[in-house]
Amino acid sequence: MSEKQIFQPNPEFSKSANIGSMDEYNALQNRAINDYEGFWGDFAKEKLDWIEPFTNVLDESEAPFVKWFDGGKLNVSAQCIDRHLDTRKNKAAIIFEGDRGDVETITYLELYRNVNRFANLLKEDFGVKKGDRVVIYMPMIPEAAYAMLACARIGAIHSIVFGGFSSAALKDRIEDADAKVVITADGAFRKSKPYMLKPVVDAALEGDTPVEKVLVVERNNEDVTWKEGRDYSYHELIKSKSSECEAEVMDSEDPLFLLYTSGSTGKPKGVQHNSAGYILWAQMTMEWVFDVKENDTFWCTADVGWITGHTYIVYGPLAMGATTLMFEGVITYPDAGRPWAMVEKHRINQFYTAPTAIRVLHKMGEDEPKKYDLSSLKVLGTVGEPIDPPAWGWYYEEVGNSKCAIVDTYWQTETGGHVISPLPGATPIKPGCATLPVPGIIAEILDPITGEKSEVGETGYMCISKPWPAQIRSVWGDKERYVKSYFGDVKKDGKAVYFTGDGARYDEDGYITITGRTDDVINVSGHRMGTAEVEAVINEDENVAEVAVVGKPHGLKGECIFAYIVLKSDDHITDTAEEVKAINNIIKQEIGTIAMCDHIVFVPGLPKTRSGKIMRRILRAIAKGEEITQDISTLEDPAIVAKIESMVEC
Ligand code: PRX
Repeated sequence: MSEKQIFQPNPEFSKSANIGSMDEYNALQNRAINDYEGFWGDFAKEKLDWIEPFTNVLDESEAPFVKWFDGGKLNVSAQCIDRHLDTRKNKAAIIFEGDRGDVETITYLELYRNVNRFANLLKEDFGVKKGDRVVIYMPMIPEAAYAMLACARIGAIHSIVFGGFSSAALKDRIEDADAKVVITADGAFRKSKPYMLKPVVDAALEGDTPVEKVLVVERNNEDVTWKEGRDYSYHELIKSKSSECEAEVMDSEDPLFLLYTSGSTGKPKGVQHNSAGYILWAQMTMEWVFDVKENDTFWCTADVGWITGHTYIVYGPLAMGATTLMFEGVITYPDAGRPWAMVEKHRINQFYTAPTAIRVLHKMGEDEPKKYDLSSLKVLGTVGEPIDPPAWGWYYEEVGNSKCAIVDTYWQTETGGHVISPLPGATPIKPGCATLPVPGIIAEILDPITGEKSEVGETGYMCISKPWPAQIRSVWGDKERYVKSYFGDVKKDGKAVYFTGDGARYDEDGYITITGRTDDVINVSGHRMGTAEVEAVINEDENVAEVAVVGKPHGLKGECIFAYIVLKSDDHITDTAEEVKAINNIIKQEIGTIAMCDHIVFVPGLPKTRSGKIMRRILRAIAKGEEITQDISTLEDPAIVAKIESMVEC
């Protein structure tokens, strides 16, 4: 498989696809280019149910703080549930498969009732009101989706913290959002064994906290500690709640949720998404990029704690009235045939996962797909990191039987939904290439200095030159950081445009290949980790004088974390292996296991310029085992490079 090969869409599939040819794609994109507001205004009217219509499509008067569909009123939970009740009340909204194979199907009518009860609980027992922040720290169980939709129903702003984050990381996010309620579970099941979440919440709430109440969903029924007056059982409280709860009337631009993500400084950013624009794009990309049809079953393997889970497990599928599968377990357990067994069992039509998962499934079970009936599959998706051609080839041939399109979807927490991706019935695809902007998105690779479009083959900055409905609206509590992080690097025709932080290049067909982050963000198994965040934590170790963290390519994870550490004095450190363990332990406690370093090397110093700037490029090259080609004579201590090289085994 090579990046040069082209695969045409399956003609049978194209016949009934929502966008079935490049002519249709071009017509849509040309409409957007020529009549941007007309394009978006028409789709917003067609796709969403408005309580009151909007009066203005796009207001850029305070750009980059933009308003979409101003004047409009709607409720996102009603978009996802109520409007389907006439035609789909007995259709499966969520199919849940537990770690141990237990299956539960929740129809749209049941979802309506469960969400309403949940919403009433939050309002009546916890006093949650419109605009309040609610932190959700949950496993992958249907109650996580109910919690999100219940917040949306009453106008509360949810902030989900991925269940793999530590108590310290959870505490930071609770405090930054000033959340008054946490929704969690006792724990859940992983690899047939119970694991716990509630103790992490208990630790996060020690000391001063804005949190008044904690709701605990019983999933594994293990013993947990209860704090009187703070902790409440979901199953106890929910019993008495009414299954009717009027949806709060929300403005288009009322915030829907916050989701914290890593940036290039030590503190994670609370990415804020608002109501109408986000839900519109979540729905449109479900229909265009995954081509989900009425009787399809869609499975996205992400966790609801990441943006992929928000948009493509919960909001997107439900907004369009689809059936979404939610999976509690680990895709390689009990063996690497698990996802294919599930595709067969649930007759999955669209399967969406990360390249890391594909690499692991390929490595652990190359022949597993052959053992199952995967004929229901129509579209395969990937997200989160570049996919290498060998993994792409296996996915295409063995999983998709060379008949399913692979949609390599490029997007970010900040973009809300896909921005660059093939459309399965229209776009000829190339391995490892995200191809073209999704219609409506004016994405361009720009030269950071001139602001001109990059030439074919040249790496430039991946930018989006016009606001789009699902874009980040602000960084919670830090407007300045929003402007600086996204609109400070590239100007086109004198106007600041959104810069994704990624590099990219065009090929001769105008296709876009993402080349990776240009900032100090590492992509570990498709999850963003800021090097500054990891460095700040490592610095907490009393023996550490200085640290620099870089990414190193990794066969399965895409990238792993490589730390160069200068100790204050190594006199008293007799066992460096112990020190490595201690440092990784701090990372585990402060962030979570996902940020643990695969490599820690103790070095006598770091390569710095005379002004004290650490030359990370050199450190990246050493980690990769590459030759240093850049001029090191200007370093404060050029000899340090050879010393470090000699200490790193590659
Ligand atoms: O570097 C890009 C990479 O993941 C980053 C976004 O991470 P996050 O906000 O956690 O969202 C991940 C899921 C949407 C991007 O800046 N990335 C995402 N998708 C791709 C990708 N890199 C290459 N190809 C992709 N398809």
